[in-house]
Amino acid sequence: MSKPLSPSLISGAFFLRILLIILISVSTFSGDVDAKNKKKGKPEPDVKIGERLYYGLIPMGEGAKACASCHTYYTADTINWNPSLLDMAQTAVEMDLATFKNHLTNPSGGIRDKVHVNYDMIDEQVFHLYGYLTGVADTGVPSQRMSINTILIFLLIGALMAAALLDLFITKKIPYKAVHILILLLGIGYQLSVVTEEAIDLGRSQDYRPDQPIKFSHKVHAGDNKIECLYCHSNADEGKSASIPGAGLCMNCHMMVRNGTNSGQFEIAKVVDHSENHKDIEWVRIHNLPDHVFFNHSQHVKVGGLDCTECHGQVEDMHILKQQKDLSMGWCLDCHKETNVKFEENDYYETFQDLHKDLEESVRDSIQAADIGANDCMKCHH
Ligand code: HEC
Ligand code: HEC
Ligand code: HEC
Ligand code: HEC
Ligand code: HEC
Ligand code: HEC
Repeated sequence: MSKPLSPSLISGAFFLRILLIILISVSTFSGDVDAKNKKKGKPEPDVKIGERLYYGLIPMGEGAKACASCHTYYTADTINWNPSLLDMAQTAVEMDLATFKNHLTNPSGGIRDKVHVNYDMIDEQVFHLYGYLTGVADTGVPSQRMSINTILIFLLIGALMAAALLDLFITKKIPYKAVHILILLLGIGYQLSVVTEEAIDLGRSQDYRPDQPIKFSHKVHAGDNKIECLYCHSNADEGKSASIPGAGLCMNCHMMVRNGTNSGQFEIAKVVDHSENHKDIEWVRIHNLPDHVFFNHSQHVKVGGLDCTECHGQVEDMHILKQQKDLSMGWCLDCHKETNVKFEENDYYETFQDLHKDLEESVRDSIQAADIGANDCMKCHH
């Protein structure tokens, strides 16, 4: 079992986060927001204080965890069941201040009483935090600023490393070589982490694994709860495409099941909302053949008797579904050359009299898909 709530799942650029926190503290102390707020009559939240509370830079109670350790805006390598910063901010706006405070200091329902523990905030702090989150809900997550920061830090550390090298070999101002080596090692570590992070973000189709609007897990459904693939993708058996189920089908179960072990009520509440308000869930399409290629599921699943795993891998083990094969033409053709067709048991192949005869007379002992024309250009390109 996974440990869904462990902040270590939020993995990735740990380094980056520390630097981000330093940057935020620096920018906080340089601002004079307080002065600005005091001029106005009615109390305004200090979003800078709110932001610092969110990142855990101001203590909120003995042993209380920073909101950012769970509600993150980074794409996690593994599934992060906690609502993202934006998700959470958007829910927070829907609440009044008192309800918001209740969720933190007196949580109940879902798994809130397990995750929101030890918050011992004074009203003023809650007010600032709420103000910060309402702002985030308005403006969206600061991804733009993030990448500019990343570039700046990347260059800065590069310059620092260059200076260390220069001093090590030429200027020799610092007597201790350990200093140079430390700078270089930490620098290389950081630069590498940024580079790999960026490379992972580049679109690739094999292993493609986009973020989905709802954290639907095949492992929870097809794995742990043993729901048949065809229960949801009923069309795979009958039609050309397998099709993705709508929220109505989800409600067959989620009318009753309102609380998830990993995500609490948050993700399932989205399903209910889509169903009640007749909104389509905008799933991001993962597998995508070009328009000029014709592919038919029932041809493979029903006639060919192939298992979903042959083409989609161990879906029942995946929290986040990802494309396993490259879906290239070579992949289709190779399988057609290698895979035996279950010839005898299937009416579909009755017309292939010659091949039946070959089998009976033991001229050949098996028929591959390619033998029945699966590799003719026109079969896949109409
Ligand atoms: C240990 C992880 C964790 C930490 C730390 C955490 N949260 Fe949460 N939070 C969650 C989870 C999980 C949910 C969804 C719970 C549910 O709906 O059952 C949630 C839900 C919420 C919600 C939406 C309430 C709802 O379900 O409608 C708000 C608002 C929120 N958190 C704010 C915060 C703030 C502010 C902080 C910091 C003071 C914080 N959280 C710290 C895990 C965490
Ligand atoms: C409870 C309903 C449900 C069950 C059971 C289920 N799926 Fe899905 N499946 C979905 C939903 C919803 C999506 C879209 C979200 C996503 O991609 O994770 C999806 C997406 C997929 C996709 C990717 C579609 C694309 O966009 O290219 C594949 C492949 C898939 N499922 C295969 C399977 C297989 C194989 C099984 C059985 C082991 C299975 N599913 C069981 C609901 C289900
Ligand atoms: C022979 C390989 C193969 C098998 C077997 C197979 N699929 Fe697919 N599947 C594909 C390909 C290729 C696509 C992309 C189709 C496209 O883009 O038109 C796809 C797409 C999908 C999609 C995305 C929506 C759609 O219909 O295009 C779902 C969902 C899906 N498959 C589920 C399943 C399930 C469930 C099974 C088992 C019952 C299954 N597949 C068996 C190759 C296969
Ligand atoms: C056949 C019943 C069934 C159907 C259909 C179904 N689910 Fe579920 N779902 C479950 C069960 C059982 C759980 C596990 C609840 C638990 O953790 O105790 C679950 C859990 C979840 C969770 C929370 C996971 C967690 O561990 O926190 C989400 C989100 C979810 N389902 C979304 C969906 C979506 C979206 C659909 C429709 C595409 C769907 N479900 C269809 C039975 C179903
Ligand atoms: C895992 C093996 C496998 C892969 C991968 C595969 N196929 Fe097939 N395909 C088969 C088998 C087995 C048959 C023969 C059974 C049948 O007639 O449906 C078949 C038959 C076909 C046929 C039907 C031929 C006819 O008789 O009308 C077409 C068209 C086809 N495949 C297209 C594709 C395309 C397009 C891809 C790649 C996107 C693909 N297949 C990938 C195994 C595969
Ligand atoms: C079993 C199915 C199948 C058969 C048979 C097949 N193709 Fe393809 N073909 C594909 C798929 C799938 C793609 C898309 C590959 C991709 O997107 O990478 C493709 C792509 C192409 C392309 C476009 C190349 C590109 O880069 O997009 C051409 C041209 C092509 N096929 C020609 C042919 C010719 C000529 C034949 C007969 C000798 C043939 N195909 C037989 C499945 C097939």
